[in-house]
Amino acid sequence: EKGGYEHFMIKEIHEQPKAIRDTMTSRISKDSDEVKLDDITLTAEDLKNIDKIFIVACGTAYHAGMVGKYVIEKLARIPVEVDIASEFRYRKPIINGKTLMIVISQSGETADTLAALREAKAQGARVIAVTNVVGSSVAREADNLLYTWAGPEIAVASTKAYVTQLIAMYIIALYLARLNGSMPVEEYRTIRDEMLSLPEKAEELLAKKEEVQKFAAQNFMHKDIFYLGRGLDYTVALEGALKIKEISYLHAEAFAAGELKHGPIALIEQGTPVIALASQEDLFDKTLSNIKEVITRGAKVLAIAMEGKKDAEKSVDEVIYIPKTLQLLAPVLEVIPLQLLAYYTAVQRGCDVDKPKNLAKSVTVE
Ligand code: F6R
Repeated sequence: EKGGYEHFMIKEIHEQPKAIRDTMTSRISKDSDEVKLDDITLTAEDLKNIDKIFIVACGTAYHAGMVGKYVIEKLARIPVEVDIASEFRYRKPIINGKTLMIVISQSGETADTLAALREAKAQGARVIAVTNVVGSSVAREADNLLYTWAGPEIAVASTKAYVTQLIAMYIIALYLARLNGSMPVEEYRTIRDEMLSLPEKAEELLAKKEEVQKFAAQNFMHKDIFYLGRGLDYTVALEGALKIKEISYLHAEAFAAGELKHGPIALIEQGTPVIALASQEDLFDKTLSNIKEVITRGAKVLAIAMEGKKDAEKSVDEVIYIPKTLQLLAPVLEVIPLQLLAYYTAVQRGCDVDKPKNLAKSVTVE
């Protein structure tokens, strides 16, 4: 059942190229300039009436939602707020008929996410559900649906569901941008074509897993590990830190790189492993200067950068290059080495990778 792999998690990490492809199939393709979403009934007229989008989810799905905010605001120019479902439901958010709510839930059964969906509906918002389980509660109760076709995810730590949630965010952003006319067709084609090449690029990256394994073998005993990034890299840093916490029980924290000076840099000691995410072209120099600051204080840095950024190599201990892509799409590739790092670290530490202590796959109670 594990298809020759030692754990479900590593099997599911390897299934990502296929999961990404399946989630795009029939929705975006080379022969059409439109995004096709069969279970979304929103019209251009409806969209004119929408002045605010909420994205609500928990855990890893919340991290995918953060990417959603960034891409929807950038491409469709509609204000987006992202919320943790357990916070959203108790804070009296301002929702009305002009609100579009997007809930993201792999299982479609998470209690807080479902409660947030119900609350939004009760107040007249339209709801799009992004879920991986056909016929789940979230799928049944939302008025619009977008399935992530990741296939069953068995490992408690989410990997392939997360990357398909990212794809869903890009698809929704493109859909809204085309619907409200905020994106010229040339720009649409550029992003679409690049998305269609992601499965192949994810495959290329998986072939480099030994590099990550080596770093994990050298650093698995350290008590803390920090993740840094700016913009979309920050959202992926949060996901990378969550992954390692969940399955290897190390203390991991993600920081927006620009926040370092405002406190967290005090935690850096000789030998502290720091994972620095530097895929964003327009923020590269800023992130690089943050990397230098932590190196000065003794950090051992693994950087993730886009191919072609040779500068990265000069400054850090190790660099994993991700295949060149649009910086907007980088999270899909960049998360892969972080998943591998969490996996190999957990294996080194002898942890129960697929069933980490204290965690359940689906959180159906508060
Ligand atoms: C982390 C993880 C959890 C889930 C969260 C939401 O690897 O799996 O953080 O992402 O419990 O679950 P769903 O997406 O089923 O609502």
